[in-house]
Amino acid sequence: MGVLETERLILRRFKPEDARDLYEYLSREDVVKFEPYGVHNEAQCEAEALRRSGDPAFWAVCLKDSGKLIGNLYFQQQQPAAFRTWELGYVFNSGFHGCGYAAEACRRLLDYGFTDLQIRRVTARCNPDNAPSWRLLERLKLRREGFFRETGYFKHDEHGEPKWHDTFAYGLLGREWFSRAEEPVK
Ligand SMILES: CC(C)(COP(=O)(O)OP(=O)(O)OC[C@H]1O[C@@H](n2cnc3c(N)ncnc32)[C@H](O)[C@@H]1OP(=O)(O)O)[C@@H](O)C(=O)NCCC(=O)NCCS
Repeated sequence: MGVLETERLILRRFKPEDARDLYEYLSREDVVKFEPYGVHNEAQCEAEALRRSGDPAFWAVCLKDSGKLIGNLYFQQQQPAAFRTWELGYVFNSGFHGCGYAAEACRRLLDYGFTDLQIRRVTARCNPDNAPSWRLLERLKLRREGFFRETGYFKHDEHGEPKWHDTFAYGLLGREWFSRAEEPVK
């Protein structure tokens, strides 16, 4: 895992010093709303930055100009390894949504995956209520392959009942990625 670069961003391994910028977004309810975890406090972000520093599935996404960490990608090989399938995920600081940063970072990572890692297929899942997430996946040209009802829950409501969520499943093959690279970017 090296460092990847785009026009405006650097994608690199997490460092323990990222705790402060990580706290800036993992402490926000609007950012973690659809995540399996709740808001993080500073101590939890210190532990998380340290943990991610040793986990190559997590990519820190930083602004090239200032070095500020504005979000992260998750890119994890699924089992069995011979299927060469990887799962993509992303969480960005809401102060930096709506700027195209997530799409720019994901495109670079997918290109790295399909070219350098020689992956065959990428998958992603999201809650249908999370429109910014599935809109991003569709901007990246992933295909919606399934809609699953009440697949699980991450959180409870005010009565302590599970908040069951549905799931959209997305996927794309390497050969589709390369043929779609010729199409105009939306
Ligand atoms: C999902 C998430 C990463 C999407 O972020 P995003 O900023 O909407 O996504 P993009 O980087 O593709 O940005 C696209 C937006 O930037 C705008 N934009 C502005 N400048 C741009 C530029 N130079 N290039 C491209 N797009 C630009 C686009 O018009 C688009 O705006 P729109 O959504 O109003 O149409 C973000 O909502 C997030 O982090 N959510 C919280 C965590 C989460 O839910 N993760 C997913 C769990 S499944």
